[in-house]
Amino acid sequence: MILSDTSNIVREKKRAKMSFNRIFLNIIIILCVCLNWDCSEGAHEKQRRAINSHTIQLSSLFPSPSSPCVLSTRASNTKSSLHVTHRHGTCSRITSAKAKSPDHAEILRLDQARVNSIHSKLSKKLTDRVRQSKSTALPAKDGSTYGTGNYVVTVGIGTPKHDLSLIFDTGSDLTWIQCEPCVRTCYSQKEPIFNPSSSSSYHNVSCSSAECSSLSSATGNSGSCSASNCVYGIQYGDQSFSVGFLAKEKFTLTASNVFDGVSFGCGENNQGLFTGVAGLLGLGRDKLSFPSQTASTYNKIFSYCLPSSASYTGHLTFGSAGISRSVKFTPISTITDGTSFYGLDIVGISVGGQDLAIPPTVFSTPGGLIDSGTVISRLPPRAYAALRSSFKAKMLQYKNTSAVSILDTCFDLTGLKTVTIPTVSFRFSGGAVVELGSRGVLYAFKMSQVCLAFAGNSDENNAAIFGNVQQQTLEVVYDGAGGRVGFAPNGCK
Ligand SMILES: *[C@@H]1O[C@H](CO)[C@@H](O)[C@H](O)[C@H]1NC(C)=O
Ligand SMILES: *[C@@H]1O[C@H](CO)[C@@H](O)[C@H](O)[C@H]1NC(C)=O
Repeated sequence: MILSDTSNIVREKKRAKMSFNRIFLNIIIILCVCLNWDCSEGAHEKQRRAINSHTIQLSSLFPSPSSPCVLSTRASNTKSSLHVTHRHGTCSRITSAKAKSPDHAEILRLDQARVNSIHSKLSKKLTDRVRQSKSTALPAKDGSTYGTGNYVVTVGIGTPKHDLSLIFDTGSDLTWIQCEPCVRTCYSQKEPIFNPSSSSSYHNVSCSSAECSSLSSATGNSGSCSASNCVYGIQYGDQSFSVGFLAKEKFTLTASNVFDGVSFGCGENNQGLFTGVAGLLGLGRDKLSFPSQTASTYNKIFSYCLPSSASYTGHLTFGSAGISRSVKFTPISTITDGTSFYGLDIVGISVGGQDLAIPPTVFSTPGGLIDSGTVISRLPPRAYAALRSSFKAKMLQYKNTSAVSILDTCFDLTGLKTVTIPTVSFRFSGGAVVELGSRGVLYAFKMSQVCLAFAGNSDENNAAIFGNVQQQTLEVVYDGAGGRVGFAPNGCK
């Protein structure tokens, strides 16, 4: 009896041990599977939900002006790479301690001036094409290109080299800097104004040269002559301008990336919204642009990442060095052929993982482009209406508030620590799908006014523009030779 009891106990213990082993084994199996992100319905659900929204700390929308600058590792480690900074902020070499933070309403007003000018340039091109097909007259150009972007790189110019901060712009071609002597006006800039007479590698360009003839397509104004030297003039949509001599100089990007004889404008009369910077680096598609002039080295390939705040740097990299394998490409569309712009065909948008019902012709009729200098993306009116209503429906837990400038969908987030916003993805022709970074969806004026960072065009025939707020933290690749533009997530912070 006792014996049988004992053997029973032993048997029970054995059974318990076996089932414990089985449970333990099962736990191990579950753990292993879970670690492979393939655990159970629950994890799938969690993962699906995580992809359809982002929760962001509201404090990250308002970086402290005293936070230290964090440098891009890509820019630090790639030989043909420059640090990209916001024009204003901790990482910028041209921000003075006294500088006021940018006036958002003013930025958006100027943004609309730039967009109007892009649209008029494109529609002019269409009418020119019609006119040209009827007669042999040369297309008339109004000579006005559009305003100024907000991202800056530092380039060495001349011999000895002067490090100068330039706004880079994929929407224009001519590179120019302010030069001494300032015969009319120079606006104020942080670094000393370049003096060509102190550089041994400076050369004037003659007005009979091919470069001088290229000015009409690069700037919309043909070059003129002064004592057989070529004079350029470029005017931007916001009435800023630069006038001076077309010249050639040595450009030093980095110690191992030096170019002799780069054509650029040495501007002796400059005015407008460039305050602080020394000039502009033209990255457009015309033959006078910097990528075209350095094509034999970089094959018209460059990439950049625009940082999410003024306390990080991003990068501008020439050539294909370090381009991520996860970049998805879409062809440069033909709508912008004959202009500086890189055409981009948007074919769809999804919000929170759901495709918006937008008929394809809404995008294909006006076409679109990508621009480093436009701040807020512009969408055809019907596409914007669909985006706005879907976004609003997913933001019902937040208090709405009044519109500001061109942004009509705003929220009062006073008192909150975080905000959960639906993901927004763009689909481009050829099938590339790009999810915007979490900072590419909202534009924050103040805690009580945080807005959806998109606007609708007023005319359905105006081109869509993929602007720089939406490009933040994406790696954006321009492959001029391959005729394509590409995107990958997490290009910088
Ligand atoms: C370039 O042209 C300007 C204007 O004619 C002249 O003042 C300057 O000396 C020239 N520079 C060189 C290096 O030839
Ligand atoms: C908030 O949304 C409601 C409902 O759409 C609307 O009636 C109200 O005018 C909005 N408030 C503001 C401040 O825009």
